[in-house]
Amino acid sequence: MTSANRYLTSWERFWSTTTGTPGEIFWDADPKYAAQEDLQLFRDYLDPKLPLIDLGCGNGTQTLFLGKHFTKVIGTEIAPAAVELAGKINAAQNVSYRLLDVLRPDAAEAIHKELGDANIYLRAVLHQLSPVDQSTAIESIERLLGATGTLYLIELSSAAEPFFAQLIQQYGPPPGLARVFEHQITPGLLHEDDLTTLFPADRFTLLKTGPSHVRTVHSLPTGEIVKVPAFYAIFRRCQY
Ligand SMILES: C[S@@+](CC[C@H](N)C(=O)[O-])C[C@H]1O[C@@H](n2cnc3c(N)ncnc32)[C@H](O)[C@@H]1O
Repeated sequence: MTSANRYLTSWERFWSTTTGTPGEIFWDADPKYAAQEDLQLFRDYLDPKLPLIDLGCGNGTQTLFLGKHFTKVIGTEIAPAAVELAGKINAAQNVSYRLLDVLRPDAAEAIHKELGDANIYLRAVLHQLSPVDQSTAIESIERLLGATGTLYLIELSSAAEPFFAQLIQQYGPPPGLARVFEHQITPGLLHEDDLTTLFPADRFTLLKTGPSHVRTVHSLPTGEIVKVPAFYAIFRRCQY
């Protein structure tokens, strides 16, 4: 099975069996603690006249929120079941959802032809691709950005692995995380240091980066919500 098909098969199963039970989508945080916090970090860096693409948007929880702050928002996904679900539960007049496998730079190019340059919001997508596939995804991102778009990404950091190990040892696996493993989705990592290789300085300008967290829907017996260590980065393509 090619890697693209592997992602499609696993994620389509994941999204097509989603029932709406609270807690079943581990990262599906209330946008006022997710996209809202991200927005504060990236909004001053991007041209608000461009469309915003939420790449790997899942069920559209964050996408709908972003639609309240930008004129045109497009959520894209590899899984048809996610596109269908997002269109059902997170619809708005200026928000649309469509298929895009981020490992298809040719398909990204076709979207760029249609929309022109776009800003990109990327939350917790790159880390679950293999290192080779991360590079291909960045080729797609490059095409979608064009000359003037800005990318905001937030991904699990190197501290996420020991964090999960400790969490599982102390409290057992959170049901939302167990569901991820059941679908043969293996959350990987994106090391902060990988950014310089993945976004080389002759192609991308790093505008800002820093530590952050991916808030989840899982609360501990203490009442505390689990927040997974992460980092954010803001990039634009180099101008020559
Ligand atoms: C951890 S979820 C994050 C979803 C969303 N960004 C959020 O924060 O709610 C990762 C998402 O990436 C999508 N995905 C995985 N591989 C993909 C690919 N090759 N192209 C596009 N989307 C992909 C999955 O279907 C899934 O919805």
